[in-house]
Amino acid sequence: MGPADLGRVLEALPQIDDPNVLVGYNTSDDAGVVKISDDLALIQTVDVFTPVVDDPYNYGQIAAANSISDVYAMGGTPVCALNIMGFPQDLFDLQVMIDILLGAYDKAKEAGISIVGGHTIKDKELKYGLSVTGKIHPDKIITNAGAKPGDILFLTKPLGSGVISTAVRAGKATDEDARECIELMRKLNRAAAEAMTAAEAHSATDITGFGFLGHAWEMAKGSKAGMKIYSQKVPILPKAFDCIKMGTVPGGSHSNRPFLEKDVTYSENVKFDMQVALCDAQTSGGLFIAIAPDKVDLFLHEMDKRGEKEWAVEVGEVIEDKPGKIIVI
Ligand code: CO
Ligand code: CO
Ligand code: CO
Repeated sequence: MGPADLGRVLEALPQIDDPNVLVGYNTSDDAGVVKISDDLALIQTVDVFTPVVDDPYNYGQIAAANSISDVYAMGGTPVCALNIMGFPQDLFDLQVMIDILLGAYDKAKEAGISIVGGHTIKDKELKYGLSVTGKIHPDKIITNAGAKPGDILFLTKPLGSGVISTAVRAGKATDEDARECIELMRKLNRAAAEAMTAAEAHSATDITGFGFLGHAWEMAKGSKAGMKIYSQKVPILPKAFDCIKMGTVPGGSHSNRPFLEKDVTYSENVKFDMQVALCDAQTSGGLFIAIAPDKVDLFLHEMDKRGEKEWAVEVGEVIEDKPGKIIVI
């Protein structure tokens, strides 16, 4: 289901009128947030997908990192998680289920939380994901709608996981390419979340199926501001361009680019392959963060403290001009 379909469905649902719902589904944010008390709000999120890699343990790790990321993208701290799995028992040995869950349990542990239960159904196709609960102070929520003109935009993981994992499954990538891509997808966004919270980021979201420019566009639209993206600065795994040339581009990545066409303008030097890379559907991508200019040093210092300074890459700026539109130079 594409973003246009999803938009139509959400529009058909009633408006939320509970005053304790601080973030609902009408802002295309990463998670819902509900106020429990004056100093505590609950973050709730769920994500499920079919395998992006062959190895069950890595699949579990990636699914867990991806689901927990939606809590991080709101500036929250994860508390616990639940498993959701569709399992075709006639196709797979139970050991596959065990290995997926072990991967997720290890990743959850790395994030400092426990997986406290879950639910499995019989399914024709393998699917796995987690529902994650997080917490945050109600005044500290970072949505994708708070960017302000002048803010500096950061991305905390390179792009390319969509086209590269598609190439891996088609047997068109090396083991080394596959390993690099898996490392990226199973990496937690924890350091980036802690650093952006310390630097009082104005806005953030994580990069997933809607691609880098899709998520940037949602932020621009929600924040009623424009954006300038420096394509040459955006970190992209070099292998991604080989994959785009070979044509191993997932369906989502194909549809993101035309969907965004009316609001994204590319300057002449931004070639087609670069446009595809910037729209590539990511699995468990990095955080995209808007930081006030006078907080940039603090943000980089906080990343450095966590050993991740090189992961914080400046990729653009928020501008006053053309709210909801993006210029890629
Ligand atoms: Co998200
Ligand atoms: Co999500
Ligand atoms: Co958010």
